[in-house]
Amino acid sequence: MSATLFLQSDVHDPFSIYKTMLDKNPIYWDDENKIWAIYSYKYCVEVLKNPHAYIPIVNSNNEQKLNKYALAVLTNLTRLSNGIQHEISREIAMLLFSNMKSIAVKTIISQLIEKDLIQNKIDWIDSVCKKLPILIVLKSFGFSDKDSGFLSEKIEIITKIMLPNKTEEQIKSINEISEQLYLIVGNHLSVQSFYEDSLIKISESHKLSLDEIKTKFVSNLIGLFIQSYDAGRGILSNSLLQIIKHKTFADKAEIEKSIIETLRFDPPIHNTRRIANDDIILGNTLIKKGDSILVVLAAANRDFEKFKNASNFDINRINNNDNLAFGIGGHQCLAKHFSIQIATEALSYLFENYKNITLLENNIKYESLINARLPKEIWISIQ
Ligand code: HEM
Repeated sequence: MSATLFLQSDVHDPFSIYKTMLDKNPIYWDDENKIWAIYSYKYCVEVLKNPHAYIPIVNSNNEQKLNKYALAVLTNLTRLSNGIQHEISREIAMLLFSNMKSIAVKTIISQLIEKDLIQNKIDWIDSVCKKLPILIVLKSFGFSDKDSGFLSEKIEIITKIMLPNKTEEQIKSINEISEQLYLIVGNHLSVQSFYEDSLIKISESHKLSLDEIKTKFVSNLIGLFIQSYDAGRGILSNSLLQIIKHKTFADKAEIEKSIIETLRFDPPIHNTRRIANDDIILGNTLIKKGDSILVVLAAANRDFEKFKNASNFDINRINNNDNLAFGIGGHQCLAKHFSIQIATEALSYLFENYKNITLLENNIKYESLINARLPKEIWISIQ
């Protein structure tokens, strides 16, 4: 098994691998996979802030044969774009984000739990983690129950659009739903009060047609749904596991501190990729133009040069918030505070309303993903 590109489902303790690499090879050339793997906090930050570290292209020349709707979405996502295209898409994603209305998390989570709880048992992943973040985002944009139902049901298919390599089956499913998805989101946006003025302003400032800007709005709203699904699921699941293990649920403040420490200690996203579009120098190492780079965020979060006693879960460590769970630099997650807030609300609801919360299975299995460590199921008993 490669020490750099492994499936999280195959590895019981990825952090022991990261520790070895941090000690011996904080910047490592994996010759088999032809990729640089960066483990130390300092160098991860340097790469993520380097303007020559580009996001790799997914689906160049539409080799995956996505239809016109799916292709429009993929091409315009801020998460996957570089240079000026990234600036415009990020501005639009942030504008969308700032127009979200505040939603009562407790109302949604209580309904989700009530619906699926059988004899005090529930799979936290399927019933809450996979549904709550996306429903909150949809409701915050005022989508109807019918549209929210359709979008949250199809979200798992849509997220596959981000994969660098897709199976035929995944492409078929993406193509099948993308027209309906695109039209629902486009129609919904067209009646929002902020939309018309924002379109005109951004089209004038970037000298792009209104149609081009509309496509970017629709794509990036779909992008917010996609991003909320996988990572949003992970913050809720990993935090619950750590809070149960360390019994840090005395009150809302302690739960919030536990979530922030979980983001450092057990983050959902373990790595992200870049490609050098010019030579990059890291310490004494030259990363040549065209080389691929794996930025191991989860290893940087355990770097003892940055975090004292890094392998201990300590909610009171002074700099826990400096973790790289949300990335850093130009592509840093724009939902950092939002995600921490919904996780705090959701877990406070759970621990305030149920006094006895027990994990029913200690041997947690993880999804077969390289970049994210996401539990498949977490069966709990709540009373
Ligand atoms: C409602 C939930 C979320 C939304 C809407 C969201 C949205 C986004 C967006 C739009 C970006 C791309 C920014 C850009 O490229 O300019 C992004 C990046 C990122 N997000 Fe989130 N996010 C969410 C939750 C999370 C959570 C819970 C985590 C992990 C704890 C996370 C981790 C990241 C990371 C690591 C990046 C940077 C990737 C990179 O630099 O390559 N996100 N997020």
